[in-house]
Amino acid sequence: MKSVLSVLDLTVEFDTPAGRVRAVDGVSFELAPGETLALVGESGSGKTLTALALLGLLPHGARVSTGRAFFGEQNLLRLSERELRKLRGRALAIVFQDPLGALHPMLTIERQLTEVIQAHEGGPRRAARARALVALEEVGLAEPERVLGSHAHELSGGMRQRVLIAMAILLRPAVLFADEPTSALDVTVQVQVLALLAELQRRHGIAIVLISHDLARVAEFAERVQVLYAGRTVEVARTRELFARPLHPYTRGLLASAPRLDGALAFPLPSIQGQPSDLMQRPAGCAFHPRCALVQAGCKTRVPELAQVRGLGERRSACFEVQTLLEAKP
Ligand SMILES: Nc1ncnc2c1ncn2[C@@H]1O[C@H](COP(=O)(O)OP(=O)(O)O)[C@@H](O)[C@H]1O
Ligand code: SF4
Ligand SMILES: [Mg+2]
Repeated sequence: MKSVLSVLDLTVEFDTPAGRVRAVDGVSFELAPGETLALVGESGSGKTLTALALLGLLPHGARVSTGRAFFGEQNLLRLSERELRKLRGRALAIVFQDPLGALHPMLTIERQLTEVIQAHEGGPRRAARARALVALEEVGLAEPERVLGSHAHELSGGMRQRVLIAMAILLRPAVLFADEPTSALDVTVQVQVLALLAELQRRHGIAIVLISHDLARVAEFAERVQVLYAGRTVEVARTRELFARPLHPYTRGLLASAPRLDGALAFPLPSIQGQPSDLMQRPAGCAFHPRCALVQAGCKTRVPELAQVRGLGERRSACFEVQTLLEAKP
């Protein structure tokens, strides 16, 4: 099937007083219509910047230095601010981790939802209000009338996240980025919000890029997983295959502390040692080498390319020792 979003070699850099930092380094992915892809990695691995670059929302000082990102015929990385503004909300939407920060404190929920509709499509306020009400019902809010009249601080964290999801899907985007959408919520609410995203995806065919540092949490909601480390993709696989047999030492480490999808215990590897990579002092060669149990001399000088794993179809890994992992007992 043709991809709804096709990202090729995206690189994002910052100029800092201490020098240039490459925070996203050659990330590529394809997203099929209606698919959920999980982008997973520790804090600082470049997940948020990847999403922000595609939406044209990079913070000051950051810039896309290479890459293409096709949404239909349009290369998102070449569009003007005006063209991007037209796409955001309507075709591409994002839900952030902190719903309180993303909602306006002084405006009612009604005002914020209807403004999204009216800014893109115009039309009378009353019609926009009716649509906002339907959207709030759709995200499972029990008293949508009351929520419409509320301000953000009058709602619980879970309710606020549902409001933000309602706002994101109001105009039926083709692609929704959900950036750590549940990190600020307690565990039961986290599961409910992820289940809600999955339901909306099924009902409306929205493709979702689900960003998380928590591989175990998002696994059952994503068809495929892309693991990032220090701004680079280190492994891509179908979720079940990744859990059954991770083919990068970093993924193995991420999984070691996580329960398996089939309920069995993860294989007996200690969780990952050491600190996440500091981009200002990125290690030479494979950035993961200071933390890697399988490190060889060559890993310290050469950067492993993301490559297909022989005999395993679509699976890709960026590790010189992938054969060792293949031969190891899962
Ligand atoms: N404003 C900034 N100035 C300099 N570097 C930044 C800035 N914002 C982010 N970075 C760098 O980019 C890295 C990746 O950031 P981010 O995409 O937010 O990571 P993630 O979402 O995976 O936690 C950060 O670790 C940091 O080193
Ligand atoms: S390339 Fe070397 S250091 Fe990097 S993950 Fe593979 S074995 Fe470890
Ligand atoms: Mg982030």
